[in-house]
Amino acid sequence: MKSFYITTAIDYVNGSPHLGHAYEKVLTDVIARFRRMMGDRVHFLTGVDEHGQKVQASARKRGIAPQQYVDEISAEFRALLPRLNISNDDFIRTTEERHKKVVREVLQRLFAQGEIYKAEYKGFYSTRQEQFLQEKDRLPGGAWPEIFGEVTEITESNYFFKLRGYQDWLIEFLTKHEHFIFPSYRQKQVLEFLKEPLNDLCISRPRERLEWGIPLPFDEGYVTYVWFDALLNYYSAVADQPGVWPAAWHVIGKDILVPPHAVYWPIMLHAAGIPLPHGIIAHGWWLQSGAKMSKSTGNALNPLDLVAEFGVDAFRYFLIREMNVGQDSEFTREQFLVRYNSELANNLGNLVNRTLNMTTRFAGGVLPSAELSEEPEQELHALWAKTRDEFIPLCEGFQFHTALERAMQFVTATNAYIEKRAPWKLGKSAEPRDQALLRTSLATMAEALRLGVALIQHVTPATTAKINDVLGYVPGDAWRDELHWGQKLDGASVAAALVLFPRPAPAVPPKG
Ligand code: MSP
Repeated sequence: MKSFYITTAIDYVNGSPHLGHAYEKVLTDVIARFRRMMGDRVHFLTGVDEHGQKVQASARKRGIAPQQYVDEISAEFRALLPRLNISNDDFIRTTEERHKKVVREVLQRLFAQGEIYKAEYKGFYSTRQEQFLQEKDRLPGGAWPEIFGEVTEITESNYFFKLRGYQDWLIEFLTKHEHFIFPSYRQKQVLEFLKEPLNDLCISRPRERLEWGIPLPFDEGYVTYVWFDALLNYYSAVADQPGVWPAAWHVIGKDILVPPHAVYWPIMLHAAGIPLPHGIIAHGWWLQSGAKMSKSTGNALNPLDLVAEFGVDAFRYFLIREMNVGQDSEFTREQFLVRYNSELANNLGNLVNRTLNMTTRFAGGVLPSAELSEEPEQELHALWAKTRDEFIPLCEGFQFHTALERAMQFVTATNAYIEKRAPWKLGKSAEPRDQALLRTSLATMAEALRLGVALIQHVTPATTAKINDVLGYVPGDAWRDELHWGQKLDGASVAAALVLFPRPAPAVPPKG
């Protein structure tokens, strides 16, 4: 069995989770479930980033101790996971001892190897981004870009990690491992970034300025820079589990690719003598009116509102169907409703209703066998073979939006097949050929439905399970064996009805 370790970024707990955080969990879950369906031994980690200035500031604002604050908000992030049907195996908090222990060990090792030195630093610091700025970060007019928030000039002694010495190694590594970062155009951007000389990385913050962090093992007067601490979660969570590291894939947003994940992380691991992960998947942003959805801009949507209104699978389906992994997508309620109505309710929901309804009406609720195979059946079989063969490589290449589009095209074609065969007409005829065609069309639509929902199982697991259930079908363990057109439902007793995607309540009309 192939080992497949997949992680999400760990969220800052300085506010409630929003749709962007939910998307990353759902995308990672879809990949994890797909790899399990393909037979891999999957380990799926998610968690929270609990240290640092932002968290300390948020706790102060509330007038409570940081630990109490992170306990509260982390519980909120954790509670989101079952609501989104996320199949994670582990959840890490960076305040846990298992994590702090590994951070101390790695720091101590790098310090002992002479990779970390102390120096005085004078310059500009962004609290919001928790990073030191350089002259080249300024806008043409001299001001600091919005994203840095308040910028202050400071002078202090700190510890630095010798990043610069590894620049050539990293360039060579990325040149050799062309597919380290997905999408590949992002890898090119990293190589562009590496054309400028790297600065060594400041990995400490003096205790007087920041209390809330992991103390440096070699100098208690300092805490560890939050990114150096946070990145290590991917490794600390599995350090004592044999066979997991380094078969790792990190799913992150494009904003935290360069420099943390694409530069600091590989260099930290390489310098510490730890093998590198397999790759990084950098997704785009959910936007509202063109701007990144975020806590600080106040344009964030609560994912749980959408789940409450439309159900978890409709929510998951929309996120995965709408977003091309790597690119940005605008979130609008209108577009959500378009896909909900046309793809889920009217297409898939309709096929389920017709199958159950007609099998009940014309066959006493027991699925008959297909007896004939004429042009309409053969066309559908051929489309199935093509859909299935293209589907797996699309998912392997993270092209889930296209994979779902193909699966839905197959569902559309099955509905068109039903129109062509018109079982409601055949049911009125006593002719033996019409009766054989009726049985064939019932068997064909049910088998096509079973196959169609097997394809979307990683995206809509609860819906697939419900549909299998009403079809009286228990799938086998090997997902790929389920994908053969195989009359698997002959003689199955189906339920009379299933409401999957009810019509949403009409939006409240604007006042006035
Ligand atoms: N704590 C760091 C990550 C450390 S990983 C070792 C962090 N946290 S975050 O809470 O700001 O973001 C967590 C993840 O959510 C990131 O991958 C980020 O890209 C993602 N998203 C936050 N807003 C987003 C959107 N509007 N759209 C999609 N994902 C975005 O960064």
